[in-house]
Amino acid sequence: MSTQENPRVSLTRYLIEEQRAGRIEADLRQLIAVVARACTSISIAVSKGALGGVLGDAGTAGSMSMNIQGEAQKKLDVLSNDILLEANAWGGHLAACASEEMDHCQPIPDAYPRGNFLLLFDPLDGSSNIDVNVSVGTIFSVLRHPDGVGAATDAHFLQPGSAQVAAGYCIYGPSTMLVLSVGHGTHAFTLDREQGAFLLTQRDMRIPADTAEFAVNVSNQRHWEPPMQAYVEELLAGKEGPRGKDFNMRWIASMVADVHRILTRGGIFIYPWDRRDPGKAGKLRLMYEANPMGLLVEQAGGAASTGRERILDVPPQQLHQRVPVFLGSRNEVAAVERQHAIADGKA
Ligand code: AHG
Ligand code: MN
Ligand code: MN
Repeated sequence: MSTQENPRVSLTRYLIEEQRAGRIEADLRQLIAVVARACTSISIAVSKGALGGVLGDAGTAGSMSMNIQGEAQKKLDVLSNDILLEANAWGGHLAACASEEMDHCQPIPDAYPRGNFLLLFDPLDGSSNIDVNVSVGTIFSVLRHPDGVGAATDAHFLQPGSAQVAAGYCIYGPSTMLVLSVGHGTHAFTLDREQGAFLLTQRDMRIPADTAEFAVNVSNQRHWEPPMQAYVEELLAGKEGPRGKDFNMRWIASMVADVHRILTRGGIFIYPWDRRDPGKAGKLRLMYEANPMGLLVEQAGGAASTGRERILDVPPQQLHQRVPVFLGSRNEVAAVERQHAIADGKA
């Protein structure tokens, strides 16, 4: 069979068709293409592993490199951040970039033209899995610069997730896949390494409303608040419990990989608020993780909640804000919200 008889839709073609249908502007299309190219470069670096000298911690012996959140940076965190910044500096579509790995947003350098979009990213998600050859990824989110073209500051990024014009992630697993939403469904593209192109392999991913699979780091159980305790207790009680069915558990510790599984076969992903550090509302970051994943999940028919409100409605106060996350199969997310409403005396 010739390729003409069964042409695969490339990411380039998909984006051009979205533009023709009036669903995205040319600038946004080009911006997404640049992000996809940067992800291809990161994928190449990740896949070299020990041969590429990219494993291990950043910084020099005796002085660990830390990000603003006090987390030790891996070499690949820093490299991926640099790749994304460099690729996006000169295209003319962006006003500034913000990253989990940088204290503040970085405006596009004066040497280049500035555009009217803002790009946020978690350059390398699942850092703890880099050195053990388990899937990691890049998560990104695109907002409009509220003042139009011009210099952007951190304050311009503080828009709710519902304002995102695009979001996606690239997972570096057995195959490299880009999962994208521009607000019209969530679609998956697989990297053809020979051609260097992302090809559409799943149009309109759908998350089943019901599931019997959950993902949570149970080692934190003693720190959870009562509604979370009550919810998980019901899951663990299985067939004999109030839910009347057995649940299975998975925890990869790379949000991209856990969310990818949920977009593929359903499930609920949980990173709740806990008492370990009362100053932090959870572990995951609203702007780089929860919002982009929330959009992708909602566009696939799932739900994304803090337990008390829709993630995409959370008004951000700070660039590096953290938030509790419950996302995936919508009836399961509703069950979590019910437990919180009961605990709060609202049900
Ligand atoms: P990052 O590597 O970008 O800091 O994100 C790690 C996140 C997320 O990917 C994952 O779901 C979670 O942290 C894992 O947390 P535990 O270490 O508690 O398992
Ligand atoms: Mn992350
Ligand atoms: Mn990260």
